Amino acid sequence: MRIAVAKEIKPDEYRVALTPAGARELVQQGHEVLVETTAGEGSSFADAAYEAAGAAIVGVDEAWESAEMLLKVKEPIEPEYGRLRSGLILFTYLHIAADEPLTRALVESGVTAVAYETVEAGRGALPLLAPMSEIAGRLAAQAGAYFLEKPLGGRGLLLGGVPGVAPGRVVVIGGGMVGYNAAVIALGLGAEVTILERSIDRMRHLEEILSGRLTLLMSSSLQVEESIATADVVIGAVLIPGARAPKLVTRAMLREMKQGAVIVDVAIDQGGCFETSHPTTHSDPVYEVEGITHYCVANMPGGVPITSTYALTNATLPYVEAIAARGLADAVARDPGLARGVNVAAGQVTYEAVAEAHALPYTPVEDALRALAA
Ligand SMILES: NC(=O)c1ccc[n+]([C@@H]2O[C@H](COP(=O)([O-])OP(=O)(O)OC[C@H]3O[C@@H](n4cnc5c(N)ncnc54)[C@H](O)[C@@H]3O)[C@@H](O)[C@H]2O)c1
Repeated sequence: MRIAVAKEIKPDEYRVALTPAGARELVQQGHEVLVETTAGEGSSFADAAYEAAGAAIVGVDEAWESAEMLLKVKEPIEPEYGRLRSGLILFTYLHIAADEPLTRALVESGVTAVAYETVEAGRGALPLLAPMSEIAGRLAAQAGAYFLEKPLGGRGLLLGGVPGVAPGRVVVIGGGMVGYNAAVIALGLGAEVTILERSIDRMRHLEEILSGRLTLLMSSSLQVEESIATADVVIGAVLIPGARAPKLVTRAMLREMKQGAVIVDVAIDQGGCFETSHPTTHSDPVYEVEGITHYCVANMPGGVPITSTYALTNATLPYVEAIAARGLADAVARDPGLARGVNVAAGQVTYEAVAEAHALPYTPVEDALRALAA
């Protein structure tokens, strides 16, 4: 298959959809790999590294026009809509349930669009979202520790303490992928950590792997209020799949917190779980409400593109290989989890939640791919 890698043009996006190592794997499997010039620069991969791996460096037009499958990181933005076409498989993050113009552009173009974020593994796990949650969780603990420093508006507390001085307290709301990773790094910094969770099964699992190192508490409105009142850092990491994040921390609760404490609302990409949160950027990450520093960067992994690119491509490459080796229809027939990734094909919406969100007809993916083959 001829596989192209496009350079990201969305502002502040430095990741790339394939590493030179990934390019070499694909070339060794007999595929042709085209990489748009300077696509890897933001992640510290020079064009020469891709060339050494057997890929060809091409201009933007050739990458989009000659590809059978195009790999990206972020969804196409408006200037890229005109490049979508039938006969092309687009494999990238899409998040189109919240983006009607892009959904329509995909449908009208006839492109086959496979979304990283809806590919599933066993038990509803989302293998292509998980690596970004791992990174965001780990960054959340770092950000919390950093913004506790006095000159940055924080309380002026070292999270880990020192011998003879008590450590700071970190409360993590939601013990999923983000919350677990935030807790692990906070523990590593020497903080005293509490996770509030709603799922007893998840808490049993966390107890097994972190036994004795932190406190696990059932999440309720009262428990949230009591726990955050004594916290130095609060990390919001809840997710209700397919829904906006619940507002678990109200403005009134902030008034009971310690002045200069830090909240990190990782769930901000789903609307945030603090009443007072609004999205911020890496260039201007924090603001203050009721004496509490708010860190609400919506694309936290974007701040560490080298790590994020490796983590993302480690997870996506097996799917790229499967599609390239067998063609999409066969790869999807063999892997129902990959089939869940197909959002649009043959001018039809093939993912129910997207169809519902935009009042468009829904077509089962097998039917759309059959129409495509006919
Ligand atoms: N800001 C960013 O850059 C960034 C990056 C990655 C992920 N995220 C977001 O972080 C959030 C968490 O993602 P995840 O991968 O950890 O999800 P996850 O599904 O692995 O974990 C979410 C956890 O929240 C728990 N939960 C739900 N309601 C709760 C409540 N009321 N109280 C306590 N816990 C509750 C669930 O039981 C689950 O264990 C999502 O909104 C995700 O989109 C943001």
